[in-house]
Amino acid sequence: MMKMLYAGSFDPITNGHLDLIERASRLCDQLVVGVIENKSKVATFTPAERMEMIRNVTSHLHNITVDCFDGLLAHYVKNNNIQAVVRGLRASADFEYEIQMAQMNARLYNKDVETIFLMTSPDYSFISSSMMKEVFSLNGEIKGLVPDEVLRCMEQKRLNKTGGIK
Ligand code: COA
Repeated sequence: MMKMLYAGSFDPITNGHLDLIERASRLCDQLVVGVIENKSKVATFTPAERMEMIRNVTSHLHNITVDCFDGLLAHYVKNNNIQAVVRGLRASADFEYEIQMAQMNARLYNKDVETIFLMTSPDYSFISSSMMKEVFSLNGEIKGLVPDEVLRCMEQKRLNKTGGIK
């Protein structure tokens, strides 16, 4: 059974992530979408909220598992019998960081694990979670760039918070 991992902060999941999840899910038997609590980033959504959004927007796919972890990705990969880690490349600027991370991870986990890169669809190559939150907070239109369900959660978060979404 081919089990792959797609990990990230997903704060929140965008249509760029979703496109990658749909494509990666066709390449394996099981795709684990791993929400990472990245201590160097101030999160808008809790890990539980991020996981719920991912579950909702991937409910049409039948081989997706959503999980959450902290610590080293390489340890999660080892402990969960993951054979490959998938990453998206949006532009050449992503490459430097990604190759460094892939090579460090290759050192950390055994050689049976591969990092697989998929080119992000050009429709979404310019987006990131932070950019979506910034545009949304300034009342810009982000419909079509994040799933409708995520947009509703962002609107809800804005209603619940004074001072808007951060
Ligand atoms: N479509 C849209 N946006 C995308 C995207 C895509 N296909 N791919 C990446 N992005 C965005 C993300 O939303 C994120 O945006 P943000 O910074 O505005 O939130 C940004 O691009 C960076 O994405 P990414 O590089 O995936 O960062 P991340 O924080 O989401 O994930 C980890 C990086 C979690 C995979 C990495 O830090 C990790 O492995 N951490 C665990 C600790 C560890 O093992 N460290 C050692 C690594 S060698």
